[in-house]
Amino acid sequence: MSTNTSDSARKVTTRRLIEMKQRGEKISMLTAYDYTSAKIIDEAGIDAILVGDSASNVMAGNVTTLPITLDQMIYHGKSVVKGVSRALVIVDMPFGSYQGNSKEALASAIRIMKESHAEAVKMEGGKEVRESIERILSAGIPVMGHLGLTPQSINKFGTYNVRAREEAEAEKLLSDARMLDEIGCFGIVLEKIPAELAEKVSAEISIPTIGIGAGRGCDGQVLVMHDMLGLNRGFSPRFLRRYADLHTIMTDAVGRYIEDVKHGDFPSATEQY
Ligand code: KIV
Repeated sequence: MSTNTSDSARKVTTRRLIEMKQRGEKISMLTAYDYTSAKIIDEAGIDAILVGDSASNVMAGNVTTLPITLDQMIYHGKSVVKGVSRALVIVDMPFGSYQGNSKEALASAIRIMKESHAEAVKMEGGKEVRESIERILSAGIPVMGHLGLTPQSINKFGTYNVRAREEAEAEKLLSDARMLDEIGCFGIVLEKIPAELAEKVSAEISIPTIGIGAGRGCDGQVLVMHDMLGLNRGFSPRFLRRYADLHTIMTDAVGRYIEDVKHGDFPSATEQY
């Protein structure tokens, strides 16, 4: 059963997310990287699906998000789009596809839009990537920002700890958020920052903030689907709420299948031709 009773069938657009903020209606977002999962969460009524570069960790087993390529993000984006009829689909621009050269950034974003058929892109960073964001926006491609903990900069910061606890970093984040709003982004992911700061940012800007580890004051929330479904046992940050224990369910199901095969109980007479 869908959890979203209002507007349950109408396609979600970037415009609609902004209207939801104006109405005070919270926005739900989850990650997906494949057709089957995207179809399930879309049918459950999720507002937005992020084809996150966390696919690098979750799908490919890399330690960081840095190795995933533009081609791989397009592959995941294309698979997700095919499973979705209502949610807004946003594809992460991978590390190296937009930093430093705004023409390359635009070319990367155009490839994502043309080849995956997603409806928006997301990019990490503030003033450092302003030129790239503006060039992409000028081509009519909606951009979502991403501030706070920015995993593509892990080698600069060295940890995945909470960001912007210090006043100077909090000030920079606030000014980056204002800038992203002014230049025309349609939303901002705020990752792992103090709840008080996220609430302040959310109150000051006109576009929705989508938090992950950024508290209740954000206009919406995002989680990595595999984490909230309990598929990943080794990751238990404070901000993560597990809604299922699929690790246990899968382990049990596979164990019973193995037993049945070993004992000759599968297939049965009715499961053969
Ligand atoms: O790649 C990702 O999954 C993300 C979310 C954590 C926001 O960027």
